[in-house]
Amino acid sequence: MKLFRVALADTKLPLGGGPNGTSPVYVRAGTVLATSFYTLHRLPSIWGSDAAEFKPERWYTVKPKPWEYVPFGGGPRACVGQQKALMEASYVIVRVLQEYSNIESRDEREWTGHVQMTSKSAHGCKVSLTQK
Ligand code: HEM
Repeated sequence: MKLFRVALADTKLPLGGGPNGTSPVYVRAGTVLATSFYTLHRLPSIWGSDAAEFKPERWYTVKPKPWEYVPFGGGPRACVGQQKALMEASYVIVRVLQEYSNIESRDEREWTGHVQMTSKSAHGCKVSLTQK
């Protein structure tokens, strides 16, 4: 996903310029700036050399710094639905864990991502659940 902004006045970004990206960048009024969350969220320098692989367990070891993981954007225009989305996802996960003792994949195909604004499995969610 890409996020776009237009500079309404001449300004400067604190980082991103110079040979190693640590100097400020001058931005003229009218300039369109885009950032790619897809790229940011797969940078090997943050997520490891296997950053492109679907590995939820990487959260045990990788602890991104502020602004390195921004699925809901950040700052004054960050997503207003963030808490609702996280609450709903947490609720569904907890309810599934409360009701079922075992969850197994029933899809022999390799995980393939379907990337739009958010990412999901391209093959749907084929799992078997064992009721407690
Ligand atoms: C997994 C779910 C969601 C993701 C990943 C997501 C992500 C985002 C992102 C990246 C932005 C742009 C932030 C920026 O411009 O810096 C945004 C904005 C926004 N989102 Fe979400 N969102 C999600 C769910 C929701 C839900 C459930 C709602 C409403 C119930 C919602 C309402 C909004 C609104 C109104 C904005 C515009 C905020 C503004 O411009 O001030 N989002 N969202």
